[in-house]
Amino acid sequence: MSTELFILFLGLAVGFITATTLSSSRMRRRIAVPAARIVDVTHALADGATRVRIEPMPDAHEDVRRIAESINSLADRATRDIEEMQRLERVRSEFIANVSHELRTPIFSVQGYLETLLDGAVDDSNVSMQFLEKAYHNAMRLNALLNDLIDISRIESGELKFSFRYFDLSDLISELVQTMHIRAEQRSVRVVLHLAKESTVYGDKERLSQVLTNLLDNAIKYNIHGGTVEISTSTVDHGLRVRIADTGIGIPAEHLTRIFERFYRVDKDRSRAVGGTGLGLAIVKHILEAHESEPKISSDAGKGTSIEFTLRTNTDV
Ligand SMILES: Nc1ncnc2c1ncn2[C@@H]1O[C@H](COP(=O)(O)OP(=O)(O)OP(=O)(O)O)[C@@H](O)[C@H]1O
Ligand SMILES: [Mg+2]
Repeated sequence: MSTELFILFLGLAVGFITATTLSSSRMRRRIAVPAARIVDVTHALADGATRVRIEPMPDAHEDVRRIAESINSLADRATRDIEEMQRLERVRSEFIANVSHELRTPIFSVQGYLETLLDGAVDDSNVSMQFLEKAYHNAMRLNALLNDLIDISRIESGELKFSFRYFDLSDLISELVQTMHIRAEQRSVRVVLHLAKESTVYGDKERLSQVLTNLLDNAIKYNIHGGTVEISTSTVDHGLRVRIADTGIGIPAEHLTRIFERFYRVDKDRSRAVGGTGLGLAIVKHILEAHESEPKISSDAGKGTSIEFTLRTNTDV
């Protein structure tokens, strides 16, 4: 072999080796390294490290980059789903904790009063009547609480069917005011009506009676001695607007957005003292939603509260 030929061969060999090492280091950089990173991250994700993501890899081969992007967006979706599930789980267990707590109070009271009676207080006629009344009062409260809880869960699960028809709202309001006038009188609260002439609405009468009962009950029990409750209805486009306004203690602005949550009470002690559990407005909101309506509340602490909502008077729209 001639020297020239040898040099030529050597040159070709060096060139070949350089080319292959070059392209294999390029391969490493574009495929192997990013792929290893992807494998690490997927392992971490599989082990539950939901926050881990593959960082941008500008040098990686386009296909590898695409894989990394889809893994990242999958991980984002999975994290979102997991967080939502955790949130629902938290809401559920808070609800159960609230329910247990609320049930415990009247059950313990009933138990306590009855035990005291059994221990001999029954022989003291002054005490026994008082304790029986207290036990009875707590049993009633327990009953009301259970009814509210059943309502809430049936409405939320969609099990409760509404039956819509036309009925006269003024008649319903008058009936309800009649049944509640004793409670109003006990607190020297005056109930005033301003009812529109045309008052046929389309809705579930039973459920709307529940809405009005709770709103009226609130307006009376969170009122001041000698205060006023004003119920008015007025005709609006294809509807009847109902407004219940009181001159009571009002609701401080920071509580207004939360007032429709289950068990939410501004002043737990005051509310419990007047027999409230904080489920009433949550039920009101659900029922009005089923009527494609919603309660609008405005309140001035110390001055009073007003809640209004609109019901349909016409099914054609
Ligand atoms: N008209 C009102 N004036 C002042 N505060 C009110 C009024 N209506 C409601 N609230 C406040 O909102 C809270 C929630 O009302 P909601 O009707 O849901 O519960 P409640 O009346 O306490 O109990 P329940 O209705 O279950 O018997 C009440 O505890 C009270 O603090
Ligand atoms: Mg209430």
